Amino acid sequence: MTHISISQPPKASSKPSQIAMISSACSPLQGTIRVPGDKSMSHRALMFGALAEGETMISGLLEGEDVLNTADAMRAMGAKIEKGNDGLWRCFGQGVGHLAEPTTVLDMGNSGTSTRLLMGIVASHPISACFTGDASLLKRPMGRVTLPLEQMGASFITRAGGRPPLAVNGTGEARAITYRLPVASAQVKSAILLAGLNASGTTTVIEPHKTRDHSENMLRHFGVTVEISETEDGADAISIHGGQRLLGCAVDVPSDPSSAAFPVVAALINPGSDIKLIRVGINPRRTGLYDTLIEMGAEIEYQSKTIDAGEPIANIVVKSTGPLKGVDVPASRVPSMIDEFPILAMAAACAEGTTRMTDLAELRVKESDRLLMVANGLKACGVHLEMGEDWLTIHGTGKPPKGGAIIETALDHRIAMSFLILGTVTKDPISIDDGSPINTSFPGFVDVMADLGARIQEK
Ligand code: S3P
Repeated sequence: MTHISISQPPKASSKPSQIAMISSACSPLQGTIRVPGDKSMSHRALMFGALAEGETMISGLLEGEDVLNTADAMRAMGAKIEKGNDGLWRCFGQGVGHLAEPTTVLDMGNSGTSTRLLMGIVASHPISACFTGDASLLKRPMGRVTLPLEQMGASFITRAGGRPPLAVNGTGEARAITYRLPVASAQVKSAILLAGLNASGTTTVIEPHKTRDHSENMLRHFGVTVEISETEDGADAISIHGGQRLLGCAVDVPSDPSSAAFPVVAALINPGSDIKLIRVGINPRRTGLYDTLIEMGAEIEYQSKTIDAGEPIANIVVKSTGPLKGVDVPASRVPSMIDEFPILAMAAACAEGTTRMTDLAELRVKESDRLLMVANGLKACGVHLEMGEDWLTIHGTGKPPKGGAIIETALDHRIAMSFLILGTVTKDPISIDDGSPINTSFPGFVDVMADLGARIQEK
């Protein structure tokens, strides 16, 4: 891999101006809500629709900035994507191997998922593409995808440390590989499998720790054969034969369990709350937070369970019945709640006793250094905690912390929403320096929370 040095990374055009926000204590939360569509599935629905032959019709698509950036990128590579007056998104694809070379730099904004999955798709097409993004994306390591994709025949130019802006030179003659994931990452797994769609031979990804399987489920829904077996040491081996076609289909995206996590925790820490969330994805590889909250004593019930295109879905009913209790979160559960540690930390700060979270190294390389941002913010709110390189221990008193701080959010939507949720119970209101990144994953967050009775507003 060649490294280029860019001292002044180009400013992403999509960077919105800062929006300071404040959250104040409220009455118990009540009501029924629907949170926006699943971000992981929305990206994949657009990407797979663009790789498919014929029309893909998507309902429930998350219309957040990250996903809209994916839509723009797929358009730049030749797909026709539009939203109809009926609220449905329609995508007309080119077929695997037939993406067009984008003529402009692809600005992926805040989205690591879009960047990594698209790098995989471009890697096995005979085209080149350049990726950039906002100040958060430009810090994120991409070596974890360039390494396997180079083995498949693609080449890359990146900034030092494998960071964007970066360029991918894809190949029309990609080679299949067998690759054992060194980090538990669905993004890396998906990038390799998507490159494998247009490689000669069978591409296999071995994952020692199960990560979200939306790519596998949705590829099957588009007509692709995905084989899963177990290795001698108990890991999953996921295989795709190159040269398969994707066929346009209907995709109904459920609500995002990672977004639902914010009102769920808000209800649990506000005594007397009783809320219902409609049609949320409850894929077991995504529900580690819910398992943890139940262990902490939360009353969370899945009602009207169904399965749609391989994805389990339910209505979630949450009742606050008293303070949560601190727990030790098993390290084996981390991949199934990788995005939920910031909001779990808020629950832990209000819980009775100590909550220990370990094996959190990946949190350092998310949209921000989430371990640091959570620890700094909670300390400023008066919470007693300890943090290590890859762990966090929070000591709760069973009562909400004092609050009253202005939290730095570092372009991280989940840090922003987590502290706004904590502010619904603290004695003194909590402010955040910038709520604009919330639109990447949860447009309408303030209104949805207001419907339940929360008091969150722009400053
Ligand atoms: C995602 C996978 C996770 C997650 C991200 C979305 C996906 O990242 O943090 O928000 O859609 O595949 P990693 O797989 O890198 O842990």
